Amino acid sequence: MKLLVTGGAGFIGNNFIYVQLDRHPERELVCLDKLTYAGNLESLGPALERPNVKFIRGDIADREEMDAVIAQERPDVVVNFAAESHVDRSITDPAVFLRTNVMGTQVLLDTCRIYGVQRFHQVSTDEVYGDLPLDRPELAFTEDTPLAPSSPYSASKAAADLLCQAYHRTYGLPITISRCSNNYGPYQFPEKLIPLMILEALGDRPLPVYGQGLNVRDWLYVTDHCRAIDLILEAGQPGQVYNIGGYGERRNIDVVKAVLAQLDKPESLISFVEDRKGHDLRYAIDPALIQRELGWRPETSFDEGLKKTIQWYLDNRSWLEHIVDGSWQDRVERDRIG
Ligand code: NAD
Ligand code: DAU
Repeated sequence: MKLLVTGGAGFIGNNFIYVQLDRHPERELVCLDKLTYAGNLESLGPALERPNVKFIRGDIADREEMDAVIAQERPDVVVNFAAESHVDRSITDPAVFLRTNVMGTQVLLDTCRIYGVQRFHQVSTDEVYGDLPLDRPELAFTEDTPLAPSSPYSASKAAADLLCQAYHRTYGLPITISRCSNNYGPYQFPEKLIPLMILEALGDRPLPVYGQGLNVRDWLYVTDHCRAIDLILEAGQPGQVYNIGGYGERRNIDVVKAVLAQLDKPESLISFVEDRKGHDLRYAIDPALIQRELGWRPETSFDEGLKKTIQWYLDNRSWLEHIVDGSWQDRVERDRIG
């Protein structure tokens, strides 16, 4: 079996490649990535030394390039992680989100259809459902919750999901979609809440918490997400959407305090700043379908996962430094990587 993993140099994609190598060491893996600011081949170092793992630098929104890659590689399965993924960036510059997340997905769907790929899996997000109120803890997103995205990022992801479903219905393309809650773990770019707070706390700088820090996110350790996608590829029903989440709801302020406590840093570093525009209040996933149909369960509790994550950042200071000072991006251009 050969998998094309688009966006495999990003946070979840590269964790997925390691999970694949662990669970299916015989599989051929092709990682395709544009290496934007968020893609980092340093994360894939040991994986790329394996004879069955290959890297191609490419842009999912470039039709000719994708046609050539799929014609040459002939993957059985395509798993699409490639995206612009940061909500704040989508608020300041939405255009690139539409290009990559919507047009890029459409290009991949077309090429998969032309070359008869056996499964196209779209890695989507719980943000397509919009948000839930803070005072109704009994509510959670199911696969039937209507799509109501709030940000340009989530609107672009919702559009991509609808395209996948349309290609399934119209052309019979065997797609699956997973909608996961907030991930955290090793190799996450320090623009997202948890790695940013670790980075700032390590430097004794203020930790910027939007509004009052009362917004709630449903946290899942990244390898639990990757195992869920692996199960969907094995046994998921074509055309089906699967919600993924591990009952890990936390208020942002409590997450930030937990990071500070583990690093033995004072809460006086917390700095309440202007709120995000259109800030979603609460996300909560109901994962009953994937639990019932595919037997998936999260394995890592939030406390354990946060401990592992912080330790990983402490042990990999050079990875963090190269991403923050841009020296990784400089190498991509200097060495014409890919
Ligand atoms: P990320 O930003 O860390 O990685 C995205 C990767 O895509 C990068 O390596 C980047 O170089 C690559 N990329 C961007 N544009 C590209 C293009 N045009 N062609 C090829 N490659 C391109 O994102 P992530 O957090 O790993 O998220 C991966 C996927 O999972 C995204 O689709 C995101 O919407 C979804 N998701 C993320 C989370 C989360 O909490 N991070 C939760 C649920 C779903
Ligand atoms: O729910 C899944 C989504 O989770 C994914 O689809 C997105 O790709 C991913 O980025 C993430 O989106 P969020 O907007 O929830 O993640 P972020 O880490 O940016 O923010 C988490 C919460 O923390 C959110 O309520 C905003 C807040 N926040 C964030 C940052 C970066 C702060 O208070 N301060 C900050 O500096």
